[in-house]
Amino acid sequence: MSHLRHAWYVAGFADELAPGQLLARTLLDEPLVFFRQPDGRVAALQDRCAHRFAPLSAGTLCEGGAAVQCPYHGLRFDATGACVHNPHGSGAIPRAARVRSWAVLERHRLLWLWAGDAVAADEALIPDLSAVTAAPQHATIRGHQPTACDHRLLADNILDLTHADYLHAGSLGSGAITRAQAEVTDLGPRSVRIRWLSSGDLAPPAFDQHLREQGRPTDQWTEVTWTAPGVMQLHVGATLQGEPRESGVDTCNLHLATPETTGRTHYWYWSTRNFAIGAEANAAIRPLIEFAFSQQDKPMLEAQQRRIGTADFWSLKPVMLAGDAGAVRARRKLDALIGAEAAAAPRAHTEMESTP
Ligand code: FES
Ligand SMILES: [Fe+2]
Repeated sequence: MSHLRHAWYVAGFADELAPGQLLARTLLDEPLVFFRQPDGRVAALQDRCAHRFAPLSAGTLCEGGAAVQCPYHGLRFDATGACVHNPHGSGAIPRAARVRSWAVLERHRLLWLWAGDAVAADEALIPDLSAVTAAPQHATIRGHQPTACDHRLLADNILDLTHADYLHAGSLGSGAITRAQAEVTDLGPRSVRIRWLSSGDLAPPAFDQHLREQGRPTDQWTEVTWTAPGVMQLHVGATLQGEPRESGVDTCNLHLATPETTGRTHYWYWSTRNFAIGAEANAAIRPLIEFAFSQQDKPMLEAQQRRIGTADFWSLKPVMLAGDAGAVRARRKLDALIGAEAAAAPRAHTEMESTP
């Protein structure tokens, strides 16, 4: 699979990577090992020793946390991927004893991996997610759910939330979004927003029970902003009809999709809300959210992928419905970005070759 290289991919929640630990994670078909350096900064290395290709993630942190020791014959590699210790022979370090390192950083309590050359890493391309990541702990539900589907199916799933009316009927769906007109806003080459607004419908059960009065007509909003390659911020909420949003219930959520391997996607969700805040309420809401994602979305995504198999999505000539407008725009943008990189690569190569 060809991936967008000039981009940041979510590699995990920052607190998945404790100091002193090695975290093995495959992203973009690359087995990687993550660790924290003594100053807390995150490092990411190819998880394959340069000697006989043992996984470094099965080794140990050493040199005060500044290097990883291979479990097989003890070579040590620092955060740049350079071999810094060879316990064999004279101790000389072979020139080829190096593993690839990746630009990685922590932002918005997430780990981000730059998929291209580290020198080109552009922090300005990380979207502002602080509206979600600053929410109180007891109004937050997060999860990591690896899913056996292409990452673009997961983006389709979030960008076309009309599915809530069917797949999540009885909890997150009320029928309102299917009847609402989708509005799509182009936010440049790397981003698109889709919004559904409705007025007069009952809120979905998961929201209705938290409104000041139940069973009353509402104004509802569902807004998803996609940023390449797979970051989606979602606002969903409802208020009693005619009342301001602030007096209703609002949720602000992240849906983060990073390719793992061909046909497999890391999916992290981070759901926050402005109501039912507290440890007990959080404990009550958590199973509802987990059920929707793990028992409804995930099986559907994996079943779709089984039906698609290895076929190219467009070659199957998918029918287009009104609710697909945002998802299709996102797919086109991602294809265009990847195509532009592919077109630029041979040119750069030729330029380098022709440089005297
Ligand atoms: S495989 Fe790593 S030191 Fe031999
Ligand atoms: Fe869903």
